[in-house]
Amino acid sequence: MKRPIIAGNWKMNNNKAETKELISKIAPLVKDAKCEVVVCVPFTSIETARKAARGTNIQLGAQNVHWAEKGAFTGEISANMLAELKVKYVIVGHSERRQYFGETDETVNLRAKAALNAGMKVIICVGETLEERESGKTAEVVIRQTEKALKDITKQELKRVVIAYEPVWAIGTGKTATAQDADGTIKIIRKVIRKLYGRASGQSIRVQYGGSMNAGNAAELMAMPQIDGGLIGGASLKPEDFAKIVNCAS
Ligand code: 13P
Repeated sequence: MKRPIIAGNWKMNNNKAETKELISKIAPLVKDAKCEVVVCVPFTSIETARKAARGTNIQLGAQNVHWAEKGAFTGEISANMLAELKVKYVIVGHSERRQYFGETDETVNLRAKAALNAGMKVIICVGETLEERESGKTAEVVIRQTEKALKDITKQELKRVVIAYEPVWAIGTGKTATAQDADGTIKIIRKVIRKLYGRASGQSIRVQYGGSMNAGNAAELMAMPQIDGGLIGGASLKPEDFAKIVNCAS
C-alpha cells in the first residue's frame, strides 16, 4: 500500500519564532495522521523547525538544493549541508524557481541527483503554464519535464522520489485543476515512469497534486485514483486548514 504524502511548501514565509509557533500548532492536529506529513521551510528556519518537530510525526523538508558538493556558488546551499540538519525531503524544480530564478530541466535533474546522493528524498515539481495549457501542450510539457528531471536516476533511487504535479496557473490563484483533469495528467506522468522504469514503478511512485489545494477541495482531489498526496502552499500556513488536508489524506 502506498502511503499518501502531504507536504506544506511554506515558500518565503515564517521566521524562526513564527516557525516554532506554526509547528507547535500543527503537531497536535496531525498526530494521528496515517499519511506522511512534511513541512518544507525556509533554510533559515530549518534548525528551529527540526527542534519544534522533535518527537512529532512531522518531517522536515527544504525548498531547494544546489548540485555541487561545495564551492564558489554564492547564495546556494549544498545537499550535505541540508542532510546535516536532518532534512528528509527537498523540493526541486518548483515552478517559482523555474519562472523567477532560471531553473531549467537540466538543473532540476542535477539538484534532484545531489539530494538523492546525500540520502534525502526529493519532491520533483512539474506542471504546465496557462499558455502551454491553452495551446494544448500540457502532456508534452509534463512528459518532457518528468523525463529530463529523472535522467540518470536509478530505479533504486526512484523509491525516494515523489513527483508533484502543479499546474502553474493553479498556484496561488485559487483556481484548482478539476480533480478529473489533475488525475488525467498524473496518469500521463505515470506512463512516463512506466516507460523509463517499468510497470511496477509507474504504479508505486507517489504523485502529489499541488495548486490551490485547500481544506475545501482536498477530499475530492485525494479521492482520485492517481493522486497520492498534495503539495500545499497558502493553506499550509494555516494550521487548521493544513490539518484538515492531512486528515483527508489519512
Ligand atoms: P498554493 O497552494 O498556494 O496554490 O501553492 C501551491 C504550491 O506552489 C505548492 O508548492
